[in-house]
Amino acid sequence: MPVSSAEVRESMYNFARRMSLVGTSAVREILKVAGKPDVISFAGGLPAAETFPVSELARAHAELFAEEGRAAMQYSITEGWLPLREWIASRMRLKGIDADPSRVLITTGSQQGIDLVGKAFIDAGDKVLVESPSYLAALHSFSIYEASFVTVGSDEQGMNVDEVERILRKDRPKLIYTVPDFQNPCGTTLSLDRRKQLLQLAEKYRVPILEDDPYGELRYTGERVPSLAALDKSGTVIHLSTFSKTLSPGIRLGWAIASGEISHSLIVAKQSSDLHSNSISQRAVARMLQSFDYDGHVQSICALYRERCTAMLAALERYFPEGSHWTHPEGGLFIWVELPGGLNAAELLEEALARHVAFVPGAPFFAGSPRHNFMRLNFSDRPPEMIEVGIQRIGEIAKRRLGK
Ligand SMILES: Cc1ncc(COP(=O)(O)O)c(C=O)c1O
Repeated sequence: MPVSSAEVRESMYNFARRMSLVGTSAVREILKVAGKPDVISFAGGLPAAETFPVSELARAHAELFAEEGRAAMQYSITEGWLPLREWIASRMRLKGIDADPSRVLITTGSQQGIDLVGKAFIDAGDKVLVESPSYLAALHSFSIYEASFVTVGSDEQGMNVDEVERILRKDRPKLIYTVPDFQNPCGTTLSLDRRKQLLQLAEKYRVPILEDDPYGELRYTGERVPSLAALDKSGTVIHLSTFSKTLSPGIRLGWAIASGEISHSLIVAKQSSDLHSNSISQRAVARMLQSFDYDGHVQSICALYRERCTAMLAALERYFPEGSHWTHPEGGLFIWVELPGGLNAAELLEEALARHVAFVPGAPFFAGSPRHNFMRLNFSDRPPEMIEVGIQRIGEIAKRRLGK
């Protein structure tokens, strides 16, 4: 059972106040059930395990231990292993980001990047501007630093940037957090015009933008849009990305790219978190990347997920009740569904789990008032046949509840 904030408050232990601001993530609790082998789960954000480069990474580790074992096992610098930062910087430069290796900080997944930015920027009561809905674990991370949220709605083009200026003027948030490419949970992509507009506003009001980009490499259709960091000429954007969705989430390697002053503060914040990210993983991945066809690998992941995304969209069309709406992602891992007739996604989930299908109800993704008629569906982790069966079951439950 999730531990609620109220339970934390009633505990016999004298926890810090911040612990009452977040309960155990409802999504983590669902994932425990959804992880059972007989469940068709659309709940997690799991990359397909068959895409993990197992033998290449095993070989890189074997070579690493044979050739530099003791050095790799020693403490290392907080910024991260230089050859890996060089590889990342050159990849980011290909995407138009001005990324000198000295500006690249290796993080323990991009989740740590979010946390470090929270630590560096947010004092209790500070406001963070987020999309509504937004990535749940970022909301948790900022809540731990006792942030409050101001929210901006979104549509198929991403965040409604037109609403942003009024909020910047009135609420003076400390930070803007956004996932412009294939957002979690919506799967939507912020249009180029809106990116430019957002950047201009952030510059005008001197508010840093935290651009969280774990999915940018995973595009299945449409044209690539430059990242906010690529458009940024004034050091306004902190860019986060990760190897979690392209190599493996288990290696826990991501990176942050920021201007000198911000980068320095993130390094200081990281020193007190974990000194440095796992140096064995860093060196092994850097070795592997010397000879690994990363582009080819990403392309094959995209081919697999494109097929799965298409299968899920087709199944939604076939089985979901009339009046349902869903996003049409050009990449990433998620489709966001709005249910008709006041259907409650959490109630639907109870029945779905009884029929061995899981998804995540949308309510926890809203930083403001939760809305209960949304669900997030992940399509990367199940083959098309299972996607069809799972979506059919959810669709049947929804239709029966609507009396159709
Ligand atoms: C938007 C977003 N940011 C960050 C993360 C965390 O990624 P990592 O595994 O690199 O910590 C995720 C993971 O699903 C995500 O969806």
